[in-house]
Parts: sequence; C-alpha cells; structure tokens
Amino acid sequence: MKENRPIIALDFASRTEVQTFLEQFPSQEKLFVKVGMELYYAEGPDIIHYLKDCGHSIFLDLKLHDIPNTVESAMRVLAKLGVDMTNVHAAGGVEMMQAARRGLGEDAILIAVTQLTSTSEEQMRKDQNIQTSLQDAVVHYAQKAQEAGLDGVVCSAHEVKLIKEATNPEFVCLTPGIRPSGGEIGDQKRVMTPADAARIGSDYIVVGRPITKSEDPYQTYLSIKEEWNRG
Ligand code: C5P
Repeated sequence: MKENRPIIALDFASRTEVQTFLEQFPSQEKLFVKVGMELYYAEGPDIIHYLKDCGHSIFLDLKLHDIPNTVESAMRVLAKLGVDMTNVHAAGGVEMMQAARRGLGEDAILIAVTQLTSTSEEQMRKDQNIQTSLQDAVVHYAQKAQEAGLDGVVCSAHEVKLIKEATNPEFVCLTPGIRPSGGEIGDQKRVMTPADAARIGSDYIVVGRPITKSEDPYQTYLSIKEEWNRG
C-alpha cells in the first residue's frame, strides 16, 4: 500500500545534527524518517524516543543477520522501541526471517534486503558463489521473504515490477536510489525519479541527500512529495 510521504534518510552522525536538520521543518509536519546504523549506533534507543516524541514515523534500518534465536530476541527489543518499520537480510534464511517476524510481532512492517544494490552480478558470483543472474537472485530472496511472512523487500525501483509479479501486488517494495528530475545523482548508479517510482508501483521511496543536503530541505521535501503523489 502506497505511503504518501517520502521516507527521509537521516544519514547523520549525531542527534545534534538531526535536530539542526529537523528544525528546518514546521513542527506540525509529521515525517517518515529512516534511522540507519551510523546514527543508531552513535545515539542508541534515545534517538528513537526523541523522533517518536516529535511525532515522526520511523524506519529503523539495521539489516539484522544472525542466528534465528538472536534475531528474534533483538526484534523483541526493537518492537518495544515502537519503530514502525525495520529490516533483516534475506540471506539469513527463511527460519531467521520467521524468527524476526515472531520477535517483532505484527504491528511493525518487516522487510528484507535481497541483494545490496552495491553488489554487482560479478561480485555476487565471485563472493557469494551464487551462479544465477542478479535479478533471479533478488526475486528468489523476495519469494523467500514472502514465504517467511515478511511484508516486503528493499529493492531497486527497477526491480519492483518483477518482484510484484513473482510475489503479489500487495508485497511491499521500498525503493532507495530516488532522485528528483534534474537533480544530481551522486554515488547512486541506477536512479529513478519519484514520479517514475510511483508509476512502476513502489510503495515507499527513501530519499536522503537530495533533501538533507538541500539549501531548503522543507521545500525540496514538499516538491519530492508532490512529484511522488502525482506519479
Ligand atoms: O542520499 P541517498 O538518497 O542516496 O540515500 C539513500 C539511503 O538509502 C541511504 O541511507 C542508503 O544507505 C540507503 N540505501 C540505498 N540502497 C540500498 C539500501 C539502502 O541507497 N539498496
């Protein structure tokens, strides 16, 4: 189901930086933000409490990958924090993903990373000894995530159609690598505009630097949101 707010990646090193950034938004504007490893490991659960107190929705992007028992216990802790969405690596296997679901419960959205978008097909073959195409590997992991009872996957916007066909239309596809029309692409390789991501069926888009590095983050956020909802 499509979320009308773009998720803002809070790729900052400290709570102070986050606060300075968020002060540029009206306090009544309730955002959907992504907290990644850097910020979470620096600030711990307090950063989640702070963002929740501000009224924002939270995707905690920690990409868990460990034995099922450990992941289940860790997810129980994240459920208590009250995050709205979190994730695991599908490479941990169906049992690990099922354990993650048990630990987290049904209230938060649980998605899986299939293959990292930084992994090329050649690297996957050499490093992981998976001898299929990258696309087949991504689709396979998406199906395993579905089998384990997860809500969806993180994927490239270019893979959404294939994944929805291989799972079902309600299976969530969350897509980073989004760049507004005419914007700089930075180190992202395969980018898509918010409007195109909407057209091909993304349910959530994650946008970082185009908003965090903008001279006017709030206006940039609003225009990306408008483009996403128009698409
Ligand atoms: O700044 P930018 O819009 O490229 O940020 C995208 C965010 O999404 C970053 O936090 C990045 O780590 C994350 N991400 C990604 N590609 C993935 C998974 C996560 O860009 N496959």
